[in-house]
Amino acid sequence: MTGNADQIQYWNIQGRKWAAMQERIDLTMNEITDAVLPFANAKPGERIIDIGCGCGTTTLRLAMIAGREGSVAGVDVSVPMLAVAEARAQASQAEIAFVEADASTYEFQPNADLVFSRFGVMFFADPYAAFKNIRTALSRTGRIAFVCWRTFPENIWASAPFFAARDLLPEAPPADPYAPGPFALGDGARTEDILEKAGFNNVRLEKLDCTMNMGADLDAASSQALEIGPLARAATELNEAQREQLKARAAQALSKYVTASGVRPPAACWLAGATA
Ligand SMILES: C[S@@+](CC[C@H](N)C(=O)[O-])C[C@H]1O[C@@H](n2cnc3c(N)ncnc32)[C@H](O)[C@@H]1O
Repeated sequence: MTGNADQIQYWNIQGRKWAAMQERIDLTMNEITDAVLPFANAKPGERIIDIGCGCGTTTLRLAMIAGREGSVAGVDVSVPMLAVAEARAQASQAEIAFVEADASTYEFQPNADLVFSRFGVMFFADPYAAFKNIRTALSRTGRIAFVCWRTFPENIWASAPFFAARDLLPEAPPADPYAPGPFALGDGARTEDILEKAGFNNVRLEKLDCTMNMGADLDAASSQALEIGPLARAATELNEAQREQLKARAAQALSKYVTASGVRPPAACWLAGATA
């Protein structure tokens, strides 16, 4: 497959799981959402685009801030996730335009004040070309603000369960750290370079260190590690008995992160911002 076709296919299959788990996933990422929205500093009356908006959680939050004087659009390639986003917008009577499109090639109107994303910009085959296209969505005074993961080893919520179960997983070639996927923008120097080469100015990356709320207890947290994230991706071909073994390993790896308010392993993100 060429371009983003394999990721588009992936998000139309995997997106069904995200759609079914939307509330759970949002709870997991609460701390991150609470950091990236103030970072983006959206204001009433602004025209905002949420890239890779998924099930629309941040799109809805941005629409509440932009208000009737502003406008908010969500762009995504995942039909099942967009369906959830549309239903939620209708239920809350929010006027949001959801667009099924590949953000790396979509012909944007050049008038957005803010292009935003929560984890929706790491899946491009050619991130240099993709961010160049995304920049065309901004007015001359516009800005971009997004959150993405730092590297896989830094993200203990993902790497601890994966490394704990590695000997039980099918053989796989070493992962390309820059391949489209959750950690593709983890290398901060490269991400700055991507944004600068795309034509953005005043590029700044801030570290966000926080936790992921993986579930109320170890059973919930280890189940989630097998539903979404790198261990889940590596385990798709395994049978129930093998998955149970992985789950036990994941539970063991996550056991040191049990707190009174859930299982909370460390997460490492970039808050990235730039002007048009
Ligand atoms: C990790 S999910 C994040 C979803 C949502 N922003 C959230 O925080 O819940 C990544 C999202 O990016 C979308 N995506 C992947 N490639 C895309 C592309 N080329 N253009 C637009 N959206 C894309 C996926 O369909 C998915 O909804």
